[in-house]
Amino acid sequence: MMKKVVRVLGFLVLFIAVVAGGGYSYLQVAYPTVGPAPDITVEITPERLARGEYLANHVSLCMDCHAIREWDKFSAPPKPGTEGTGGEHFNREFGFPGDIVSRNITPFAKKDWTDGELYRAITSGVSKDGTPLFPIMPYEHYGKMDKEDIYSIIAYVRSLKPLATETVTTVLDFPMNLIVRTIPKPAEHQAIPPQTDQLAYGGYMVNAAGCFDCHTKQEKGKFVGEPFAGGFEFNIGNGRVVRSANLTPHATGILTMTEEDFLNRFRVYRDNFVPNPVGPDEYQTVMPWAMYAGMKDEDLKAIYAYLRSVAPVDNKVTKFEVNK
Ligand code: HEC
Ligand code: HEC
Repeated sequence: MMKKVVRVLGFLVLFIAVVAGGGYSYLQVAYPTVGPAPDITVEITPERLARGEYLANHVSLCMDCHAIREWDKFSAPPKPGTEGTGGEHFNREFGFPGDIVSRNITPFAKKDWTDGELYRAITSGVSKDGTPLFPIMPYEHYGKMDKEDIYSIIAYVRSLKPLATETVTTVLDFPMNLIVRTIPKPAEHQAIPPQTDQLAYGGYMVNAAGCFDCHTKQEKGKFVGEPFAGGFEFNIGNGRVVRSANLTPHATGILTMTEEDFLNRFRVYRDNFVPNPVGPDEYQTVMPWAMYAGMKDEDLKAIYAYLRSVAPVDNKVTKFEVNK
């Protein structure tokens, strides 16, 4: 009897191993389902360079993640002269499923990439060698931008100073190392709405700027909160926790914040603003104020208008806490 049970169990284990193994190979072969990189050539024009510089540094913030950030200064601005290098870690300590590292996107590392390969990585999350990228890299948002904006970003990325860094490798924990293969998908571009349609234009900017991702509560890489209601917790070391604000038009959010108040929150970090030093025990934030501050007033106004239109959510957030 016992023998039989053991045999049945043995078969069961074998069966599961075969199915799981098959599933594993299937995932490896069939995903990501994005297809080859397109055959494109992005012409570098002064207009594209200017637009790309604006988007990469003040809206889509490529340089927030693909640069060395100075965590000893307010809002951790990118260190001048390191634009495009990468090397920022998003790891288990911060609640991510593995150790995800941003990569060098300067011509030093990307000179052998075609424009199509850059385009596919930025808008669909597939690297040159076909491996999927973890969606901390906000390719799902970039895939919804206007194709021309992406071409501008590519032109700008091509113009970065080549900076040498060590090659870094992302390590994802099981089962995310498998799940990640199913995340990349083909881009679905939309045209930039006319600025006269402030709400639609604001929605476009909010998507391009990735406000949703930080201002919607996430746990272990999954959205668990109401859209834009804040409360996403960032552990920034030494017991300090910073939580994203509620940006919905509720009393616990931005209901009483006028358009002028909203703009002023950004304006103080403009022009000759020098980020003040922040000690390892002091107040710090992950909100990239200094970078977004470079956004044009019209763009910030449209973002404000869009945020006023989302569903109000009652969520009082304590933005900063020290747990010792
Ligand atoms: C919130 C952080 C973040 C932002 C913003 C961001 N990236 Fe990334 N990016 C990453 C991370 C992290 C990776 C590596 C992901 C991985 O290893 O799975 C990556 C990967 C890439 C890759 C693939 C590189 C390779 O060698 O495979 C390219 C290209 C890239 N990013 C370009 C951009 C551009 C251009 C922008 C702005 C439009 C941008 N990124 C914005 C974090 C970010
Ligand atoms: C990397 C994460 C991150 C991103 C991206 C981000 N935020 Fe924030 N934001 C935060 C955090 C954390 C706070 C709370 C701490 C603070 O005020 O700096 C915050 C605070 C704010 C506040 C202050 C609200 C108040 O009640 O004082 C505003 C306004 C704001 N964010 C707007 C935006 C907008 C608009 C975008 C997109 C353009 C955006 N944020 C993108 C993390 C982020």
